[in-house]
Amino acid sequence: MKQLLNGTFQGTVRVPGDKSITHRALMLGALSEGTTQIYRPLISADTLRTFENMRQLGAEVTQEGDDFKVVSKGHDHLISPDAVLYTGNSGTTTRLITGLLAGLNNITASVEGDATIAKRPMDRVVIPLSEMGADISLKDGRYPPVNIHPAVLKPLEYDMPVASAQVKSAILFAGLFTDGETIVRETHQSRNHSEIMMGQFGADISVSGTTVKLQGGKKLSASDVTVPGDISSAAFLIVLALITKDADITIENVSLNETRSGIIDVVKACGGKLTITERDSKGEKFGDIRVQYTPDLKPFHISGDIIPRLIDEIPILTVLAVFADGESTVRGAEELRFKETDRITAVIAELTKFGVSFEEYEDGFKVKPGYKKVKQDELFKGYHDHRIIMMLIVMAAAANTNIEIDDQSAIDVSFPSFVSDLEGLRKDR
Ligand code: S3P
Repeated sequence: MKQLLNGTFQGTVRVPGDKSITHRALMLGALSEGTTQIYRPLISADTLRTFENMRQLGAEVTQEGDDFKVVSKGHDHLISPDAVLYTGNSGTTTRLITGLLAGLNNITASVEGDATIAKRPMDRVVIPLSEMGADISLKDGRYPPVNIHPAVLKPLEYDMPVASAQVKSAILFAGLFTDGETIVRETHQSRNHSEIMMGQFGADISVSGTTVKLQGGKKLSASDVTVPGDISSAAFLIVLALITKDADITIENVSLNETRSGIIDVVKACGGKLTITERDSKGEKFGDIRVQYTPDLKPFHISGDIIPRLIDEIPILTVLAVFADGESTVRGAEELRFKETDRITAVIAELTKFGVSFEEYEDGFKVKPGYKKVKQDELFKGYHDHRIIMMLIVMAAAANTNIEIDDQSAIDVSFPSFVSDLEGLRKDR
């Protein structure tokens, strides 16, 4: 990535729309009667899988310029697809659609993704869905393909064994049209986009602390959704600005939903120069984030409640830790082992190639600040994981080093314009 070297990063930019919100808007649009306009969605490899899958189920889904439109006659008009529902690299599509299909009571479908999806556990959603009465089978009882057969579901009261918005959302999607109240209790609150959006589409849903209650059986009606920028994408620019001399980046219209904004708390605790200007919003909170180079960053120690609020940002926060003035620790993050790749192993393996030293734990790691020159001919691995690849590109730019990554194509999963946005922000020093 030679074109990112010998400069700094300055200017104003928008990151693509939030991935989690875009998936949910497409799914709720398909389940609701009427026309759902989705403004500024994320248009990427992952969300286009959900887009296509909703079409296969009979919703009329179109892209109009930068926006999506979903026209549907409602959940009871959706049909069994005549081909496999292919979910590509998208864990969110795979898990949420499993709950959605189970809840429709009358659908036969097979859901399957790429090689990374084939290794991701689906029993975490199928176990509670089976308790609701769903008829679903998995490969070896754990992995996709997910085969769904018609079954009438009953509501569920469920204590979540892991903090996972995907599991919570799958149960809520399945509970939407059951006869009675579904209750989900979490130990640590995970992202709440499903709860917010289901309410906007007319579901009878309430939240108290970490307990969600959904009264099933309400007909949903279409509602427009304006998608804010994805804080998980903004995270790469936030960290790049903090650690690159003279950097000053403003990211406009970023989601500031508190179940997602753990990175802001960490950056503030590290003393990072970050200013937030919140904008008026009715549903999801959003605003502008200005970040400036901060030469004397303090280390961070994260565990417990904050982990689900920044789970996807841990790879890039590790780069911040490399530039801090002491050892940082991440604990209670064993969920990282079940992402697009085992992110604890991947972060350690790849940043070690920069001479960074780690102590690995089952649920996280300790990282020492500082890095060394990368060996000549070192080949970096991306593991077909967008967040590992973007982490490496930021680390290389901040270290002013040119590196070679085996395959960068997975960036398209969440941030197709990442490299060109960085090039646009790069200024000669
Ligand atoms: C997501 C939830 C998180 C997150 C993923 C998107 C979602 O996964 O890592 O990128 O949209 O619900 P888990 O719920 O499995 O933690």
